[in-house]
Amino acid sequence: MSDNGRVPRPLPADLSPRLPSPLTEIDDDRFARHGVRVLLKRDDLIHPDLIGNKWRKLASNLEAAGDRPLVTFGGAYSNHLRATAAAGRLLGIPTTGIVRGDELAGRPLNPSLTRCAEDGMRLRFVDRSTYRRKDDPATLTALLEAADAQDAYVVPEGGSNALAVRGCVALGRELRGRADVVAVPCGTGGTLAGLAAGLSGDQRALGVAVLKGGFLTAEVRALQEAAFGGVRGDWQVADGFHFGGYARVPAELRAFADDFGQRHGLAVEHLYVAKMLHALVELARSGAFPAGTTIAAVVTGTPH
Ligand SMILES: Cc1ncc(COP(=O)(O)O)c(C=O)c1O
Repeated sequence: MSDNGRVPRPLPADLSPRLPSPLTEIDDDRFARHGVRVLLKRDDLIHPDLIGNKWRKLASNLEAAGDRPLVTFGGAYSNHLRATAAAGRLLGIPTTGIVRGDELAGRPLNPSLTRCAEDGMRLRFVDRSTYRRKDDPATLTALLEAADAQDAYVVPEGGSNALAVRGCVALGRELRGRADVVAVPCGTGGTLAGLAAGLSGDQRALGVAVLKGGFLTAEVRALQEAAFGGVRGDWQVADGFHFGGYARVPAELRAFADDFGQRHGLAVEHLYVAKMLHALVELARSGAFPAGTTIAAVVTGTPH
């Protein structure tokens, strides 16, 4: 049975993931000179539409939803909204995306929201103050009513709920015995919360916050409490590498991402993955990893 008492529906073949995701070592002097090995955990190759942590976070929510419509939340460039819209198309179920910012309603859709709409997602734009209160039960009920989606299965912003966190435990398990430190970019903290719980006792997880505010440690703790009934694993959040906040990508970071991509033959996503990789280079330079450390860096997404 799922968390909400319904019998979960198995996912169709279209949603089959490539798991475990590949793990490949890179040759990079910025780490090698400190005696540090780096492996890339290619979660970006899990599924063409539900990329990276999206598949791990959504799969069990989709099973739990059964054939109910899905409602979820996100900003105008949310990868999570896009993944949910794609899942709706693949499963043949209606999706509604509640988007932060009613000023967007009268404008042409950006490429990310265009993709959502093409995948059949109904988009509803709400003002920022209502959006901030979306987890308050009365506000949520009003939002669902306004969207004519009272019977929908609600996936929270960023897809991070207890089911999603438990879905990310497998990521940690896949990395047991393969690395001393596992690094992952953090938005809501759900991926880190699950990953850390799946690692073995001698491994630690390092989340790199892509938002400023320093609230992620408390969020990850709360997500682990909801998912497991208490804090699990050895993890911490690095708060100093957000480059000014969410979606801030200064030229220096862009150049870093392009260079990293050229050196290692992958397209580096800027908002999350680049910030994590940059943090690892800076931490290695400052001597944060003793010689002999192996780091696995989780590539959680692709550029779009
Ligand atoms: C590419 C990518 N990496 C990492 C994250 C952060 O994941 P979480 O919200 O679980 O911390 C996201 C956000 O959902 C993302 O889109």
